[in-house]
Amino acid sequence: MSNNEKPAYERTKLVLEINHLTKKFAVDGGKFLTACNDITLRAYEGRTLGIIGESGCGKSTLVRTLLRIHPATSGEAIFEGHDLMKSSGEQLRQDRKNIQMVFQDPTAAFNPKMLVKDILTEPLKNFGLIKNSEVDAKAAELLEMVELPAEFKDRYPHSMSGGQRQRLGIARALALEPKIIVCDEATSALDVSVQEKICELLCRIQKEKNITYLFIAHDLGLVDLMCHQVAVMYLGNVVEWLEHGRIAEHCKHPYTKALMGAVFKVDFKPGEKIEPLEGEIPSPLDLPPGCPFASRCEHCTEHCVQVKPELKEVEHGHWVACHLFD
Ligand SMILES: Nc1ncnc2c1ncn2[C@@H]1O[C@H](COP(=O)(O)OP(=O)(O)OP(=O)(O)O)[C@@H](O)[C@H]1O
Ligand code: SF4
Ligand SMILES: [Mg+2]
Repeated sequence: MSNNEKPAYERTKLVLEINHLTKKFAVDGGKFLTACNDITLRAYEGRTLGIIGESGCGKSTLVRTLLRIHPATSGEAIFEGHDLMKSSGEQLRQDRKNIQMVFQDPTAAFNPKMLVKDILTEPLKNFGLIKNSEVDAKAAELLEMVELPAEFKDRYPHSMSGGQRQRLGIARALALEPKIIVCDEATSALDVSVQEKICELLCRIQKEKNITYLFIAHDLGLVDLMCHQVAVMYLGNVVEWLEHGRIAEHCKHPYTKALMGAVFKVDFKPGEKIEPLEGEIPSPLDLPPGCPFASRCEHCTEHCVQVKPELKEVEHGHWVACHLFD
C-alpha cells in the first residue's frame, strides 16, 4: 500500500503508544480496586483520541496515570521514544511540559489572587522561559490565540464568564507549547452554545499547532464530531477502539451500541433496534473472570461469563472485545 492510499491516521505520526497499562488502587481491607485494566491504545500527532464510557469506568484514572498523578501498577506509555511511566528528574519535568491538561472546572486550578497575565505566564516562569519584561506581551499573545481581548490580562479570573475562564484554561495549557493536551470533561460544565465555540477553538488550535488531544466527554455526539479515534471503556477495560470513522455509525460492541442507543437521535427511525442498557455493573473491587459487560448484555452466553474476550481487530483499524466476533 502506498503512503497516500493508507487511512489518514496511518499517515500521521504516532505520538503516544499505551501498552497494557493497568492501575489498581489499594483500598480498605487490603483489597485492590482495578480502575484501568490492561489498556492498549495509540494517539496520533494532530489528532484527537476520544475516550468514552459511563461514570466510574476509568477514563480520568487513565489520563491521570499518563500524567503521573498516580503511579501505574504495570504497563507502559511510550512518548517520544521513552516510557512516561519510568520518567524521573529532568525527563519528568519535560514530560509535564509536553503533556498539559485542561480541567473541567478551570476556576479551581487558578489562584484567585493572581492576575490573568500571571496565571498565563506562570508555567513559562517555572521553566525559566520568560523574563518579567515579556509577561504582558506573552499574555496578550496567548489571549489572542483563544480569541479573548488582550485587556483581559489585567483582570482577575473571577471577573470572567465560565466560557471565558475555560478559554483561559486552554491558553494556559498552550503556553508551554505542549505536544499533547488532555481535556477531561473540559467542556461539560458549559452551556451548549459556549461548548460549541470552545470545541471550534480547540479544533482551530489543533490544525494550527498540530497538537494531539486526549478528549474525555460524556456527550457522545460531541465525541463523534470532535474525535478522529475513539476508545470505549467499560469497568476499566477498553471494549472497543475505532481508529477511523464515526463511532455512532460503525460501532459493533453491544455496550457501545447500547450507549449510542441511549443518546436521543433526531433521525431515529421507528422500529430501529436499540440494545438495552440495564442490569448491575460489577464492582471494580471484584472483577468478573469473563466479559466485564456480561451482567448487562442480552447476547451473553456461558462462554462469555467464563472467558474474558480479548480486544481483536475485526476490520482494519477497528478493535472489539466481544465473543460475538471470535
Ligand atoms: N484515588 C482513588 N482511590 C481509590 N479509587 C479511585 C481513586 N480514583 C478513582 N478511583 C476509582 O476508580 C474507578 C474509576 O474512576 P475514574 O474517576 O477514573 O472514572 P471516570 O470514568 O473518570 O468517571 P467520571 O465519568 O464520573 O469522571 C472508580 O471506581 C473510582 O471510584
Ligand atoms: S463477550 Fe458476550 S457478554 Fe460480552 S459483550 Fe460480547 S456477547 Fe456480550
Ligand atoms: Mg472522570
